[in-house]
Amino acid sequence: MRIWQISDLHMERDEVVSGKTFGGVPDADVAVVVGDLSDFVEDNIDWCSRVVRPKMPVVYVPGNHDMYGKCIYSDIDDLRAFAAGRGVTFLEKDVVVVGGARFVGGLLWSNYELWAAGDDEERETLVESRLVAAQEKPDYKRIYADRPAGRLMSPWDSRRRHKETISFIRRELSRPFDGPTVVATHFPVHVGSLQPQYVGDHDQPRYLSDHCSLIEETQPDFWLHGHTHHAVSSAGRSSPTIRVATPTRRPVSTGRSSTRSKPLEPSLPDPQDVGPRPWVPTRRVLRRPRRLRKQRSILVSWTDRNPSRRTTG
Ligand SMILES: [Fe+2]
Repeated sequence: MRIWQISDLHMERDEVVSGKTFGGVPDADVAVVVGDLSDFVEDNIDWCSRVVRPKMPVVYVPGNHDMYGKCIYSDIDDLRAFAAGRGVTFLEKDVVVVGGARFVGGLLWSNYELWAAGDDEERETLVESRLVAAQEKPDYKRIYADRPAGRLMSPWDSRRRHKETISFIRRELSRPFDGPTVVATHFPVHVGSLQPQYVGDHDQPRYLSDHCSLIEETQPDFWLHGHTHHAVSSAGRSSPTIRVATPTRRPVSTGRSSTRSKPLEPSLPDPQDVGPRPWVPTRRVLRRPRRLRKQRSILVSWTDRNPSRRTTG
């Protein structure tokens, strides 16, 4: 199975509405969009319906930008129905089988627990301080947790949603399935997905959670994600799961100095994630290592036309 992974195009509204493309649609069996094509989720789904769906099935995982102006609870059913009406499968705490492969996932958010050390009380104190500090971030000013009451999503809400989604993924992956399993989330789940210069950065727990133990325990074939705007593909020592992230195509200022990295180069693995044969992808088609003896591949394109890009989002 060839999977075309797309994410973080961060198009302007006129671009997504006009059906802007970034090259030819590749030959693949299914497209997995892992969020943030633009800030307008219905337009993003329409874009998938018009640009991609005529060529292949589309599984659409929302990103944080997809949820701007939306509610993380009360709008999900409507978005699922909206997508279904356009031939697109919306995946938010959902599972779907396409072409004999099982796709499990959702937006995910983060648990703010990355690098939190110490005893339980010390960790909770640190996490609580991170949640308090995150309240001023844009996601918490533009996304609702209770839209009928006009209540915006708080960091505590997104953390709760993260835990709900991880529990869902764990439960679904525990079910036997005769075929490949792909987990697709917008948020990343492994420190190996970080750009090396952000290892230890105090802001990263908002972007990324560490679920190594879940990956090792459940061993899905692939875990696809976006959000980091940094191309990475790697497998760990104790799990053959291949984690793949797609970079963004657009430089957007976050107030940080921009970073430069070439697309589709693997990030430096963290010390606990150095496999016996670190896997280096080819330029465009990411193939599973031969040692795993499986004929599946991930195709990543339409992601980067500019070496300068924002770091995460
Ligand atoms: Fe994002």
